[in-house]
Amino acid sequence: MRKPENQIIVIFGASGDLTKRKLVPSLYDLFVQNLLPEKYAIIGVSRSDLGDENFRSQMKEGIQKYAQSENKSLIDDFLKTICYQSVDAKSAESFFLLKARLNKINSEFDIPEKVIFYLSTPPSLYSIIPENLAKIGLNDESNGWKRIIIEKPFGYNHETAQELNASLKQNWNENQIYRIDHYLGKETVQNVLVTRFSNGIFEPLWNRNYIHHIEITSAESIGVEKRGGYYDGSGALRDMIQNHLLQLVGLIAMEPPSSMDSESIRNETEKVFQSIRKISEKDVHKFVIRGQYINSTVKGEKMLGYREEEGVNPESKTETYAALKFYIDNWRWGGIPFYIRTGKRLPTRVTEAVIHFKSTPHFLFQKEAVNGGSNQLIIRIQPDEGILLKIGMKIPGSGFNVQTVNMDFHYSDLPHKFLPSAYERLLLDSMLGDSTLFARGDAVMSAWEFLDPVIKAWESDKSIPVYGYPCGTWGPEVADDLIEEDGTTWRYPCKNLADDEIYCEL
Ligand code: BG6
Repeated sequence: MRKPENQIIVIFGASGDLTKRKLVPSLYDLFVQNLLPEKYAIIGVSRSDLGDENFRSQMKEGIQKYAQSENKSLIDDFLKTICYQSVDAKSAESFFLLKARLNKINSEFDIPEKVIFYLSTPPSLYSIIPENLAKIGLNDESNGWKRIIIEKPFGYNHETAQELNASLKQNWNENQIYRIDHYLGKETVQNVLVTRFSNGIFEPLWNRNYIHHIEITSAESIGVEKRGGYYDGSGALRDMIQNHLLQLVGLIAMEPPSSMDSESIRNETEKVFQSIRKISEKDVHKFVIRGQYINSTVKGEKMLGYREEEGVNPESKTETYAALKFYIDNWRWGGIPFYIRTGKRLPTRVTEAVIHFKSTPHFLFQKEAVNGGSNQLIIRIQPDEGILLKIGMKIPGSGFNVQTVNMDFHYSDLPHKFLPSAYERLLLDSMLGDSTLFARGDAVMSAWEFLDPVIKAWESDKSIPVYGYPCGTWGPEVADDLIEEDGTTWRYPCKNLADDEIYCEL
């Protein structure tokens, strides 16, 4: 694998949870695999007055707990490359301290002026930090490239996302901006492209002639945990669908790119987003269902309802579940429904896409046993990462009785079972300057444009219900009514890819 060129990584929001749980442990994992540059430095930045040693010991804890690598013997070596700089992100003067620190590192360790600024901060700082960096020339690429990585949420709706984009574009070019969507960093999400475009058998079937509908589920069994304050201003639609799940739709629905370079792939996903049929505000109740978990007892354990969670308004209407149906108006997908659902406090943690193929034109066998001859391809993103095809097979013995059987591949069957974490992959790509797995500005805008009417209708039309659902269930039952075909429901997946019975042990 290619090693990135020498550079400095600056992490704003260094005292936050993401830095400790994901970013620094992922950098350590890269270090262990010898995938960090020959010469590099990591500077943690936040307002707290921490000092290098304190920061290092916090990061040590994070690495010990969260790094994937089993080899923890290199932690002290790795920590030598980390330091800390206190900066008040809102004060332009304070950025001179950062510049001085960068200059010192540049000259002391002979590292070039190539810098990544990772913004792992509250979104209210996404404009101000890039602006303050630019004020002191830290966006200037004449002596080495400069990149900024921006965490989600990128905006709160179409208008605010546009404002943020416009503010960034005043000082930074699109090729310097890396909008992170950690779903794109997941191996199994990238494998959608490999499944589709490295196998001759799938692509000829991958269209409205052979596919009946597409279903994407991203379920979590946890609630909002300690993030009630953030989540109550966000909700499932903004938190999961606008970014992660629409990006997944982009990869499932796109045309083959002309090559695997960043622009070709991102051009194709953007075309998908532009072709998604808008849901008008007055039709939102027909196409979108929202729900909220209510207090309940699951396997003897009492669980709080969403409105009782810390940081949540007791009268909140924020959705912890959302399911929607939409169409992509182009030649490949005309008339084929796409269904997406996501929620917290569902029975299990699972993310998968199910391609439901059309049934045979005339079914010769007993129909009930095998979904009337319709095959399903299940692309399992997590857990039990893999892929599964459901096909009908003859039950041995007299007659022609048919049963559905699974052909499945599990990543865990590979001799090297190690799947790099999403952050590890994305950090490495940003260091290499490969933006393929980062969301481009126009795609983010198109995703907001599609969801804006839903957001507006939910805000203004009080008659659209927020359905309560007990913890540990698959959300409001009315979500089944979104599925067009009589008798067809969502799939009820289990944590094991091959088990998909409704009553499996979750
Ligand atoms: C984050 C959301 O982006 O993704 C969280 O803010 C959610 O609410 C998380 O829990 C899910 O990510 P993953 O990788 O666990 O599926």
